Parts: sequence; C-alpha cells; structure tokens
Amino acid sequence: MEHILLLITIILDLALAGRCSNGYSKNDFPEGFIFGSGISAFQWEGAFDEDGRTPSIWDTFAHSSSGPTGDIACDGYHKYKEDVRLINDMGLDAFRISISWSRLIPSGRGPVNQKGLRFYKNLIDELIRHGIEPHVTLYHNDLPQALEDEYGGWIDRKIIDDFTAFSDVCFREFGNAVKFWSTINEPNMLAIGGYDVGFIPPRHCSSPFGLVNCSRGNSSTEPYIVLHNMLLAHASTARLYNQKYKDKQNGYVGITCFAYWMVPFSSSKEDEIATQRAKDFYIGWVLHPLVFGDYPDVMKKIVGKRLPKFSEEESNLVKDSFDFLGVIHYVTFYVKHLSNFQHGDFTSDTNAALIPFGNTTLVLFDVIPWGLEGVLKYIKQNYGNPPIYILENGRPTNHHSSLNDMGRVEYLHAYIGSVLNSVRNGSDTRGYFQWSFMDLFEFINVNYTYGLCFVNFSDPERERSPKTSALWYSTFLKGKTTKEPKNNLSVSSSPGLSSQ
Ligand SMILES: *[C@@H]1O[C@H](CO)[C@@H](O)[C@H](O)[C@H]1NC(C)=O
Ligand SMILES: *[C@@H]1O[C@H](CO)[C@@H](O)[C@H](O)[C@H]1NC(C)=O
Ligand SMILES: *[C@@H]1O[C@H](CO)[C@@H](O)[C@H](O)[C@H]1NC(C)=O
Ligand SMILES: *[C@@H]1O[C@H](CO)[C@@H](O)[C@H](O)[C@H]1NC(C)=O
Ligand SMILES: *[C@@H]1O[C@H](CO)[C@@H](O)[C@H](O)[C@H]1NC(C)=O
Ligand SMILES: *[C@@H]1O[C@H](CO)[C@@H](O)[C@H](O)[C@H]1NC(C)=O
Ligand SMILES: *[C@@H]1O[C@H](CO)[C@@H](O)[C@H](O)[C@H]1NC(C)=O
Repeated sequence: MEHILLLITIILDLALAGRCSNGYSKNDFPEGFIFGSGISAFQWEGAFDEDGRTPSIWDTFAHSSSGPTGDIACDGYHKYKEDVRLINDMGLDAFRISISWSRLIPSGRGPVNQKGLRFYKNLIDELIRHGIEPHVTLYHNDLPQALEDEYGGWIDRKIIDDFTAFSDVCFREFGNAVKFWSTINEPNMLAIGGYDVGFIPPRHCSSPFGLVNCSRGNSSTEPYIVLHNMLLAHASTARLYNQKYKDKQNGYVGITCFAYWMVPFSSSKEDEIATQRAKDFYIGWVLHPLVFGDYPDVMKKIVGKRLPKFSEEESNLVKDSFDFLGVIHYVTFYVKHLSNFQHGDFTSDTNAALIPFGNTTLVLFDVIPWGLEGVLKYIKQNYGNPPIYILENGRPTNHHSSLNDMGRVEYLHAYIGSVLNSVRNGSDTRGYFQWSFMDLFEFINVNYTYGLCFVNFSDPERERSPKTSALWYSTFLKGKTTKEPKNNLSVSSSPGLSSQ
C-alpha cells in the first residue's frame, strides 16, 4: 500500500504541479488545525443483526423497499482494523465515527449490550493506538426502532431522557479516550427530510406536503417539534457532560448544523429579503437558539403557534450549550421569493424556492467554494464566531466510474482552499473532515458515493481501493503543496459575495 501511495504521490505531484496559482499546503493552516475524514455507523458497519444489535429506523427504511440495504454495508464491523490501517496510511489527524445506539443499547434504554460496547472500545482504541483523534457523533439518524415504536421517537419529549441516558453510557465508557463529541448529526436536515418532506427515515409527512406517500406524520407541526426536542436533548446531554464528566475527561461537546449557502436569485428586494428569511429558517433555526436562546423572529412570526416555545429554563439550557459547532456543507442555492404562498409546512413557511446553482442536483454537486466561505463568514458575523469543525464536505461521483475521480479532487482542492481563505479572514474554524473516507451505503442514490476509497459492494470481501482523491488528500496531508487540478473543470465564480 505505502509503495503504491508513494509512487502515485510522485505522479500526482507532477500532474498537479505546473501552475503556481491557488497553490497551498497543509503548513499554510494554523498550528493545530486538524484534517480528517469520516463514516457513520449505519452506512459503514453492516452486521445489522449480529451480536445483539436490534433494528434502527434506518434499517426499517432500507428494508421497506426492494432496493439495497445496509445489512452488510462496508462490513466495517469486521474490517475495522484494516480500515484504521488505511486511515493511518492516508495520514489523517482525526477520524469521525458514530455510535449505533441500537447496537450499544438494543432496547433504546436499559441494559448495555456488552458485545456492542466491546466493538466501539476496540474501534476507538485502534484509532488512538495509531495516533488518530476520534471525533464521535452520538446520533446519525439511526434511532432504535424500539423507541420509534414505543412513543414515536423524536416527536415525544421522552426522547430527551433516553438520549441523555444513552450519551451518559458513551461518556462513561469511551470518554477517557474521546475528547470530541457531537450530539446530533444535522438536526435541521433530519427534521425536514424525516418529518416534512418524508424522504428519509422515519418517513413522516402529511398530504399535500410530502414528496412521498407517508403513512404517518404531520408536516405542519412535526418538523418543528422534532427539532425542538433535538435541541433540548442536545442541551441536556451537554449539561450532563459538563456536570459529570468535563472535570475528569476534559473533552468538548458540540452539535452539527447542515448549512446550504444561499444567494438571491435576482437583485430584487424581494429575493434579497427571501434569502435572509431562508437563512433564518435553514440555519438560524438551529443556531439562533444555541447562541441567543430562542428561534429567529421571522420564524416566530410566520410559524406562529406551530413553533414550540422555549420556557425560560429551557432557553437558558440551550443557550451556549456547545463548545464547538460542526458545519456540514455541500451545495449552494439561489433563493427566489414566492408570493401568495399558503403556509403549511416547513418548506412553504419559508416563502422561498431554492433553485440549484448551475448543474447541481441531488447527486451532482457543482464546485462553488465561495459557498463554504459564505457559510463560515455568515456564522462568524451573526453568531459570535464560535469554534467550528467542518464535519462533512465532499462530492459524490458515480460509484461505477473509474478510480480516477478528478472531479472529487477538484472539489476538495477548491473547498479546502476556501477554508484557508476563511481562516485567514478570522473564522475560528479548527478542522476539516472530508466526507466520506470510503464509499458507504447511500440511501439517496446507491450509485453515487462520496468515498476517497472505492468499496466493491459486489465482493463478499468488500475490497477497498484508494481512488485518485485518496492519493491527492494523502499528498496534501503529508505537507506537500497542492495546486489547482490540471484539467481545470469549470469552477463557478461568485455572483455576489459583496451583496452578502
Ligand atoms: C401517492 O399515492 C397516490 C394514490 O395511491 C398516487 O396517486 C400518487 O402518485 C402517490 N404519490 C407519490 C409521490 O408516490
Ligand atoms: C397537524 O397538527 C395540527 C395541530 O395539532 C392540526 O391542526 C392538523 O390538523 C394536523 N394535520 C394533520 C394532517 O394531521
Ligand atoms: C453544466 O453542464 C454543462 C454540460 O455538461 C456545461 O456545459 C456547463 O458548463 C455546466 N455549468 C456549470 C455552471 O458547471
Ligand atoms: C473578511 O471579514 C470581514 C470582517 O468580518 C468582512 O467584512 C469581509 O467581507 C470578509 N472578507 C471575505 C473575503 O470573506
Ligand atoms: C443504479 O445503477 C444500477 C445499474 O446501472 C441500476 O439498475 C439502478 O436502477 C440504479 N439505481 C438508482 C437508484 O438509480
Ligand atoms: C467486484 O467484485 C466482484 C466479485 O468478486 C468481481 O467480479 C468484480 O470484478 C469486482 N469489481 C471491481 C470493479 O473490482
Ligand atoms: C481555468 O479556469 C479558469 C476559470 O474558468 C480560467 O480563468 C483559467 O484560464 C483556466 N486555466 C487554464 C490553464 O485553463
């Protein structure tokens, strides 16, 4: 492996050298800035019914259609040692994993599954032994089905105690090794995708709002209730950590936010106002309570009684309940004002249409690095410049196309460069995690994967092969200067950062 890496590194150095514009190296980042990559439990582990694990809502979702499932996924449950070697070979400082709640606590609450506990201890130990800092996400959209069945999962406030108790087990068992905890992965996207439009688990929505036919749900109310309960569960968990573990373990607790960047579709006043409104709905929904203790005014005004209220105690609990913010960013949209629109669900409440920039679709992302700069600058200017780890950023490519994924290299080169610009301009961004380390089980479209390493899902051994992007990232991580990719695919320029 290392021989091949070295050889290809040299070839890449030659291929990517040549022009000196846009060159940067890892050494241009501040001391202590970390680079990583990541996976999530359900998309990587497989072993779905092994050693006492019970189904999560994601298993139920995958099994509900005749398509592929995550039953084996990358078989990470059995191949974690091999994967940690690959992670180490690549030169990553840190690695992001998540814990499958129903593997650790099969009933959702109550007894801990010793075999599940052993697996995560082994995985974390293996990372630490190689000098790789684990960043652990507690919840990555895989609620134990038992809790969904019992009381509806996130729509019920009972989830707050159950999530806090699950986190307590994780802090107690893994907290001597793990210093970076993210409570919930992209709560805003889970609330919209799972409870308004209904295309991700647990597939709740109500007519006429869903993009799919849902058998349960209420798109008018549930997205707001779910996000509210997620913020309270996060804050309750952060308080637990601070009261019970922080002194001994000296770690940090954060939460993540899915952040599109958004720019006005036209120069009209209406589109400009709609763009700010969309930022408040999509980003402020999460960040406003965390920083100011309440939802943005525009949301309170439009959503009215359907938006849960924070009691004074809850507001104080949520406000400042994070040590860092995990930013998840992929794409940029135009925002167009919609007039005469009937309010009813989250999407229509925004009174705005999100129009993809350029050729962006669900599985093809244009390279718009100023979008990430926009997000980081917006958070810096409006939310007090909190410490940030970019916990997901990456580009899907067709799983069956060649290992020579120059499109991914181009994206990563541009976006890491935009992080450098942001840091130089005062953003307190402290780390960047590419998504994803290897091809994972994808549920939006299994044919488009994000991996630096190819995984052959037809092979019982699930063989891993590094793609060109793996070699590019590795070269960069070893401190070599990286240049703009030679084939210079179109990189959109900003239509108006100045207007932001
Ligand atoms: C939902 O079900 C109705 C009636 O069965 C059908 O007409 C409609 O096309 C379905 N919509 C979607 C998005 O599947
Ligand atoms: C959603 O909940 C609201 C408030 O309880 C209620 O008025 C509305 O009828 C519900 N919608 C559906 C589709 O059940
Ligand atoms: C969109 O795709 C077309 C056809 O491949 C290409 O000509 C065009 O440059 C692309 N636009 C952007 C903004 O990437
Ligand atoms: C840099 O930060 C300053 C202050 O926040 C801001 O005014 C300026 O627009 C930023 N420039 C870029 C390129 O982000
Ligand atoms: C993925 O590709 C396979 C083989 O080309 C095809 O049969 C399948 O329909 C594709 N799946 C999706 C979700 O597009
Ligand atoms: C994937 O594995 C199958 C079964 O071992 C093999 O036939 C196929 O050639 C492999 N595909 C690739 C792209 O390596
Ligand atoms: C690369 O693309 C940019 C933007 O389209 C263009 O300005 C530049 O001249 C291109 N460079 C080369 C070497 O083609």
